[in-house]
This record gives sequence, structure tokens and C-alpha cells, in this order.
Amino acid sequence: MSDSAPAREAWGSRIGLILAMAGNAVGLGNFLRFPRQAVENGGGTFMIPYFIAFLLVGIPLMWIEWGVGRHGGLRGHGSMPGMLESLWKHPVAKYLGVLGLFMPVVVLIYYCYIESWTLAWTWASMRGATQGLDQQGMQAFFKSYVDLDNGTVHGFWTPFAFFFITIAVNFYVVSKGITAGIERLAKIGMPILFVFAAILVVRVLTLGTHEVMIDGVLTQSSPLDGLNFMFTPDWQALANPKVWLAATGQIFFTLSVGMGSLQAYASYLTKKDDLALSGIATAATNEAAEVVLGGSLAIPAIVAFFGVAGATAIAKGGSFDLGFIAMPLVFNQLPGGATMATIACMMWFGLLFVAGITSSVAMATPALSFVEENFGWTRKKTATFLGGIALLIGILHLVYYTQGFLDEWDYWAGTFGLVILALVETVVFVWIFGPDNMWREIHEGATIRIPRFFKFIMTFVTPVFLLVMMIWWTIQEAVPTLLMENIPEADHTIRWVSRGIMLAILVFQIFLIKAAWRRRALDGKEVA
Ligand code: ALA
Repeated sequence: MSDSAPAREAWGSRIGLILAMAGNAVGLGNFLRFPRQAVENGGGTFMIPYFIAFLLVGIPLMWIEWGVGRHGGLRGHGSMPGMLESLWKHPVAKYLGVLGLFMPVVVLIYYCYIESWTLAWTWASMRGATQGLDQQGMQAFFKSYVDLDNGTVHGFWTPFAFFFITIAVNFYVVSKGITAGIERLAKIGMPILFVFAAILVVRVLTLGTHEVMIDGVLTQSSPLDGLNFMFTPDWQALANPKVWLAATGQIFFTLSVGMGSLQAYASYLTKKDDLALSGIATAATNEAAEVVLGGSLAIPAIVAFFGVAGATAIAKGGSFDLGFIAMPLVFNQLPGGATMATIACMMWFGLLFVAGITSSVAMATPALSFVEENFGWTRKKTATFLGGIALLIGILHLVYYTQGFLDEWDYWAGTFGLVILALVETVVFVWIFGPDNMWREIHEGATIRIPRFFKFIMTFVTPVFLLVMMIWWTIQEAVPTLLMENIPEADHTIRWVSRGIMLAILVFQIFLIKAAWRRRALDGKEVA
């Protein structure tokens, strides 16, 4: 196949494309993961490696992934195995591409589970179920939802029902295709998300000063203290490698780089699309949503009511305490009583759901395109099949959440794996395909020129940065995580089961690639 590959769907409009790409990137990572990571890693101290990683790997990878995606898409490939083989004619290339199927599928499944919480909390807010709860009540409300053995507040089947609805909506959207499904969702969802977030930011920043008990002393705290904390670095703390790993990990997750989903969306671009401008516009939109909106929402709100020390303790307490426990508590204390609390909670969880779904449909796209294009299935049939698998496997997350089943997937696919895929695609696109070809590919159809020093960054700095991060990550975190240091003995079995299932998915996908290429050979189709 070459440029004569069968016509594929294309994005309906430039604004639709940017909104869909921004929807892909802007997600739960911006509003839940970012505040937690920033607070836990020292606020302003975290922001320095964060911006360095954004510049040296975030922006370059955004262009690289758009380039890899469009190059593959023009040759009929919507997923990484074909994309990598079209750049590097080596039998191993397609198997390396398995990472671009594995990462999005694994992240999609656990991400949809968390997304289903946001739907459940939106519903609970509408019913006023979290109104008037104190910290203990809010914790019990949360624990009872995620721990099925503790279901005193929610019905046993409630989490199952919300998970089912979330999966069904996601796969319904993707079954409708690129323009009628994903692009339409982004055009409706993204403006709602930005409006809700902007209203909440204004409300939070005008909260005024509160009295907070810190170490037994009554102290004044305001949202501005939160902003101050976020932008005042402690230079000495920068020597801590943990902060660098956390900041780089956040850049990967929030921009959706190393995930396979940006490439899948970019495969629907045409030669005339301006990849250089749209790529940077997407990265900038994501950062605005993350630093300006995400950063000005949860952090100042929680600091105003709990102080910096209280906010840090909450962030360290658990991955989701900040978003699902502390935020509703803050909203309960807003002037305006029950009505205001209900509206603010609905907006907060509603925007989280929209942010989540516009990202999860993107994660479903690579596997969907792979099956559709290589096995000739219709989009509807593929969506139903994959949705069924996601539902069945996702139930394991639901049942074993408290034993760390999800944490394994979040670490190996949602953190460590992203760096591996990013390194592989950078080496293939920049070094094997060649820096000049890469540069030309990215500028095809572009109305702007990317400053030339980025070519140097993409050729040398980004791959070296990725390699160093990967080695550092392996030593600092991956080995201890693999050996389950600090994990209670009682949870080891379930964590091994969790890893085993991930491995089974990987092996199954490798087998599918082999089968797909055998089918191509029988049909006389060559990858170009
Ligand atoms: N980039 C997506 C997020 O931030 C995955 O949630």
C-alpha cells in the first residue's frame, strides 16, 4: 500500500480536529492527577522540572506523534504496528508497534473505571447525597464506593451500573466514527468543560480568607496562598530525583504522549493539514487547562480551607482524596448553602466526566482502527467486541481496587510504559527515518515554520532525555515496584494476577499483529 491506500475518514473541520485533540489530552490527569502530583511534590518545586519536561519532551513528542500518525494514516494505518513499519522496513518494527496498542487499551480500561466514579459523583451531587457530610462522612462515602466489602452507603451494584454506563457511552461514541462520534463529542464537550472550569475557578479565587488550624495554631489561609505555593520553588528540593520523575510522568500522562492515541487521531489528517501549528495549539490548550484551570481550582480551594500542610497531607493520603473527598467538602462550605454546594459539585464532577470521556474515546481508537483495518470488521462490530472485553476486564479493577490491582496498571502502562513507547517511536521516526525526513514530514502542509533549534532538540535532546529518564526510572522506581517493596504481603497474589492479565493482553496483541500480517501477505498487500 502507499498513498493509494483506501480512503480513510478525515476530520470534518480544523476546529473539530483541535477540539478532539485537546479533548484527547485534557483529561482526569489535568484536574485530578496534576493537583495531587504538584501538591505532593512541593508545589513550585514541581513546576520547574514540569516546564523543563514540557519543553524538552512534551512539545517535541507532540510533533513527533502527529508526524508518525499522519505518515502512517496516509498509508492506511491507524495504529502503531503499521505506522512504525511504514517508517522502518524491518520485520521487528510492527512488533515494536504493539506498545501503541497495549498502552492505550490498558490505560483505557482502568481510566474508564475512574471515569465511572465521576459519573457516579455527578449523580450523587444531583441527589444532594454528599451535602452536609463532614470529613469522616465524605471518606466513608468514598470508601464504601470503591471497597465492595464495605458497601454500607452505596448499593452493592451501584459501582457496576456506573461502570457499565461509562463503557457503553464510550464505545457508542467510537462506534459512530471520527466525525459523527469523536469530533461531535469534542465540539459539545470541550466548551462545556472550559465554561464549567472557568466558573469554578472564579468562584474559588474569590473565596476570601479562612481560619485554619495548623499544628494546633489558628492561622489565616486564602486561595492566594495556594497559588503562591504553586509558584514558589524550594530550589534545594530540586535535588530530589523523585520530583523529576513525578513531573516528567505528569507531562507524559497529561499530554497523552507515549500512549498511542495521538498518533491514532493524527492518522486521520490529510497532507494539507497544518500539523506544526495544530500540534503546538493542542499542547498549549492542554497546559492552559492544566496549569491555569486545573492548578487554579483544586489547589487554591483546598489550601484555603485546609492550609498548605493540610492540602499536602490530603494529597499524600490517597490518589483520589483530593478530588473526591476534599473538593466536595470545600463546596459544602461555600456561601450559598445547599444550592450552591449542589451546583458546584455537579459542575466539578460533570467537568471531570467530560474531561475523562474525551480522553478515553481516544484511547479506544488505536485498537479499534487496528481490528477494523486488518481484519475487515465493521466499526460497530469492533466497538461492541472491544467494549465487551473492556467491561469484563474492567470488573476486575472494580472488585480488586483496594488491593492495588489498578495501581499495577497505572504504573506499568500509565507511567513507565509511556516512556518506553515514546523512546521507541522517537528513535524510529527521528533516527531511522531520518531527521531531515522527519522535519519535512512535520512541515508538510504547515503554514508556520517550527524554530530550527527544535530539530536539534528532537534529534538529540529528546531521545537522550528519554533514555536517561528510563534508566533513572528503572533504578529508582521500576525495580522496587517490581519487587513489591512496601506492598503488604497479603496483596502480592492479586498484584501478580493483575500483572499476569496485562501480560496476557500484550501476548494476545502480538499474536494479533502476526495474524494480521499473515493475512496481508495472503491478500498480497504490502506495507508501504
Ligand atoms: N491525557 C489524558 C489525561 O490527562 C490521558 O487524563
